[in-house]
Amino acid sequence: SEAAARASSAPGGIPATGIRKGLTTYGDAEFSMFLRKAFIKGAGYSDDALDRPVIGILNTGSGFNPCHGNMPTLLEAVKRGVMLAGGLPVDFPTISIHESFSQPTSMFLRNLMSMDTEEMIRAQPMDAVVLIGGCDKTVPAQLMGAASAGVPTISLVTGSMLTGGYRGERVGACTDCRAFWGRFRGGEISKPEIDDVNSRLVGSVGTCSVMGTASTMACLTEAMGIAMPGSASAPAVTADRVRIAEATGTQAVALAAAGTKMDTILTQESFENGLRVLLAIGGSTNAIIHLTAVAGRLGIRLSLEQLDRMSTETPVLVDLKPSGKYYMEDFHRAGGVPAVLRELGSLIHREVPTVTGRTLGEEIDDAGPGFPQDIIRQLSNPVYPEGSLAFLRGNLAPGGAIIKQAAVSPALLEHTGPAVVFENTADLAARIDDPELEVTADSVLVLMNIGPVGAPGMPEAGYLPIPKKLASRGVRDMVRISDGRMSGTAAGAVVLHVTPESAVGGPLRLVQTGDTITLSVSRRLIQVEVSDAELARREEAIGPAAPAVPERGYRKLFVTEVTQADEGCDFRFLQA
Ligand code: FES
Ligand code: MG
Repeated sequence: SEAAARASSAPGGIPATGIRKGLTTYGDAEFSMFLRKAFIKGAGYSDDALDRPVIGILNTGSGFNPCHGNMPTLLEAVKRGVMLAGGLPVDFPTISIHESFSQPTSMFLRNLMSMDTEEMIRAQPMDAVVLIGGCDKTVPAQLMGAASAGVPTISLVTGSMLTGGYRGERVGACTDCRAFWGRFRGGEISKPEIDDVNSRLVGSVGTCSVMGTASTMACLTEAMGIAMPGSASAPAVTADRVRIAEATGTQAVALAAAGTKMDTILTQESFENGLRVLLAIGGSTNAIIHLTAVAGRLGIRLSLEQLDRMSTETPVLVDLKPSGKYYMEDFHRAGGVPAVLRELGSLIHREVPTVTGRTLGEEIDDAGPGFPQDIIRQLSNPVYPEGSLAFLRGNLAPGGAIIKQAAVSPALLEHTGPAVVFENTADLAARIDDPELEVTADSVLVLMNIGPVGAPGMPEAGYLPIPKKLASRGVRDMVRISDGRMSGTAAGAVVLHVTPESAVGGPLRLVQTGDTITLSVSRRLIQVEVSDAELARREEAIGPAAPAVPERGYRKLFVTEVTQADEGCDFRFLQA
């Protein structure tokens, strides 16, 4: 047909389906095409512009999302890259989610964004898609959606923010936000001082400047071959970031020509590379949930036992906050993800494909030799001898729980103490700072009902504040246990993702104030020292769990369909 002939005339011999790809169903295909061209010509496009591969670009700019505040610059650069390679760039919006502007919690909206992403990629005619995301939930949501949509995909992150300075001390969101807030709660710094700090924590647009969830997901996306080599770490406002955007656009056209879809690149081996890098960078606990969800879209099951085995043989090499001392801009100057992959050596699967069309091994070799530095260490001189994360089990968490062992005060890695139980976040807020609260530094703070169903949305409330009366005496860390999550920028002896959650009947709901709880990271144990018979008696007395199901809308869908942390908190009907 004439359309096919025109399609094959795209520049550089690139076979383009372009705007001919898929057609709106009017029952008359030629009329559908006629209408489509009429409308896009209304936007000022010529026939010549349309005879090219169409590269969709996911524009997640939003006034409520400062982490994506460089979106206009990135869009322009990606479009330039696409056009330099002979493609036609077309950007389109989806939901955008910022951590601090998403009520009740950004995690509640991640799956919604993934559905938006999947269906808008599928609905509109594009030969490849560039995902632009950055803030914590956006990159996972985009990877989940694009994995399901099955269109050739390349990811571009917005990049980290610059650090700021306070009285000669370098500061950055949001590890330092928490540290300064802790000092303010403890009475160490005054109200005017904390207000001054507030203006200095976020140095520019971009994602949090530490190895929080956003930086972690950026690194994993690169390590798994879905983004350009070296692209994870460049700060948002640098020339590097803009050049990476241009190169991403150019590569998207090549991906369209090759027809390489995500399931070719995201294999069991590349997910293992992702887990390996997660451990070596001291990455966010949240990344386990997100990786599990992305893998689940492709029918790949990640096991936490496997993660734990890898953890014993993968030291932490990267010295970034929250577990270490540097920031993303330092990590970028130190070589970024390619340098981490190089140092990991034989622990990495080198034969896996990447979006560049070359193997990960070839890309690592291209990254050049290492140099003496203390930000990305060598295997022989690690920051922490084991991986940053440990997988716990025990009668409190039959389905498992996670702790970021590298960020725990060493004295609390093995700890036994009496439980102080909070029923939910409202109970916590009401009592945690009560001077009458019976609590000591040895107590174990337990928070129930903040799991995927319980809150709902599994909020980052697992980082329970230190009770004010202890904070003011200098207590900075305590053992805390919940079925929720914590921010990737937080640190402490915090046991998270207790599965199954209390709201759906997990044994966490049976714990009572005064029970003795044991945390042993060396034995990978989280246990309440109460007999099975007594736990059974308590269960009988409380009755079966009956989570409240909202009456309508997305909230009802969420509570009805969300899976537990060990399945990535994806919706059942979205899994492969
Ligand atoms: Fe967006 Fe931290 S708030 S990355
Ligand atoms: Mg976060």
